[in-house]
Amino acid sequence: MRSAPFTLLLSAFLCAIGCSDGGDGGAGGTGGQGATGGTGGATGGTTSTSTGGTDASTSATGSATGSTSASTGDATSSTGDATSSTSGTGGTGGGMAVRTPAASASTLREAGEKANPPILIGAAISGGGLNNGDYKRVAAAEHSYVTAENEMKWDALEPNPGQFSWGAADNIVNWARSNNMKVKGHTLVWHNQLPGWANSLSGATQVEQAIRRHIENVMGHFKDRIDTWDVVNEAVITNSDTGVGNPRMRPSVFFNALGERFIDLAFQIAREQDPNAKLYYNDYSIDALNDKADFVYEMIKGMVERGVPIDGVGFQMHIGPPNNEAGGADVAANLRRFADLGLEVLISEMDINRCSNQVTAEEQLEYYHDIVEACFVMPECTAITFWGINDGRSWLNSWSGALCNGQSSQSLLFNDQYQKKETYNKVMDALMGR
Ligand code: G3I
Repeated sequence: MRSAPFTLLLSAFLCAIGCSDGGDGGAGGTGGQGATGGTGGATGGTTSTSTGGTDASTSATGSATGSTSASTGDATSSTGDATSSTSGTGGTGGGMAVRTPAASASTLREAGEKANPPILIGAAISGGGLNNGDYKRVAAAEHSYVTAENEMKWDALEPNPGQFSWGAADNIVNWARSNNMKVKGHTLVWHNQLPGWANSLSGATQVEQAIRRHIENVMGHFKDRIDTWDVVNEAVITNSDTGVGNPRMRPSVFFNALGERFIDLAFQIAREQDPNAKLYYNDYSIDALNDKADFVYEMIKGMVERGVPIDGVGFQMHIGPPNNEAGGADVAANLRRFADLGLEVLISEMDINRCSNQVTAEEQLEYYHDIVEACFVMPECTAITFWGINDGRSWLNSWSGALCNGQSSQSLLFNDQYQKKETYNKVMDALMGR
């Protein structure tokens, strides 16, 4: 990956989120590769297939985007707003292009779709939320990308060894696709939210077999509907959840049995399952320039150098307790060094916790604007996902380390009545180049 010519790499990144060779909006491709489901006897669930949504992309950017046609059928490509093309201003490192904002937009989603190149605007969606009409309306109007908050984790999908339960995840995925939203699979290999049986595995053979069966079945089941995956989540730990002190590999059933190679293994299995999927590593408190971010940078650099099939890194961007605090400049520098490895970067789980006033109201607004801007200007930053829709449903409200003590974390873009907050306006400003 590192040896590929830079222009080809940039072209590939831009095309991955929507490009065309003519700029007049080609027909949607079919989603996924149409391969058969995974091996190992997945049970239950319908594998409803659907073709991708419209893939009318913006015209190719004026700088170094090449003419490779890469219509992937993703449901979120721009509807072809003729925003001006980038001109290779070299505003970011290495003489790179910058993303151009839409001329006008009335939702976050539209601002992302009309930017050039487009950028996905995402939200964590919960099955419970989809029972609420206001939640669904705001979620679909404002976002083009969905991450299931809990429903695609190992304990939800494989509660018993080799027995899969697809219902809750299918509901979210099918709802997303019916609203022309793309889905990121979250998450294939994670130490947390494992069923008891998985935590009891021991020995390299057992653990490797379980990883393989899980990835093959899950990616196989969603093959025609999901082509971006968090393959490994949160494999690194520090003394503090803020990313400071003695960064190291996290003990887990996976690491304990296989050592660090469980990460390469998971990516290799995922690549075997889908040669065209985007495969990501995802972690928290790597948003700032801190011990954990440095350690993860070296880890990812090593993977790229070894030829491990990784396409990008998700920076969760949980700002405030229990995680790190980071300003826009710090985030920009950090994203840049990962992108310079030839990878996509994503803001994958953003929220900013106000509990205990550790982040003040003013700081929250500033961080929302500046961090979103740091990603938005980089063409290699392909998505910004917020971890929830409205404050009342935030995971932070009930997470002890978040210091909320039963209060609302006030961490998101919409209040409990689903009205836009000032945080929403700051995000919109950043997406519109203001
Ligand atoms: O499903 C059970 C339910 O049966 C039980 O009655 C109830 C009682 O507490 O718990 C329910 O499980 C909860 C689950 O969310 C589903 O609601 C767990 O207790 C709770 O711990 C779990 O929290 C989730 C957390 O991941 C677990 O680590 C949060 O909702 C979810 O937002 C959070 O998401 C993670 C990302 O996946 C990875 N990055 C960090 C992020 C925030 O922690």
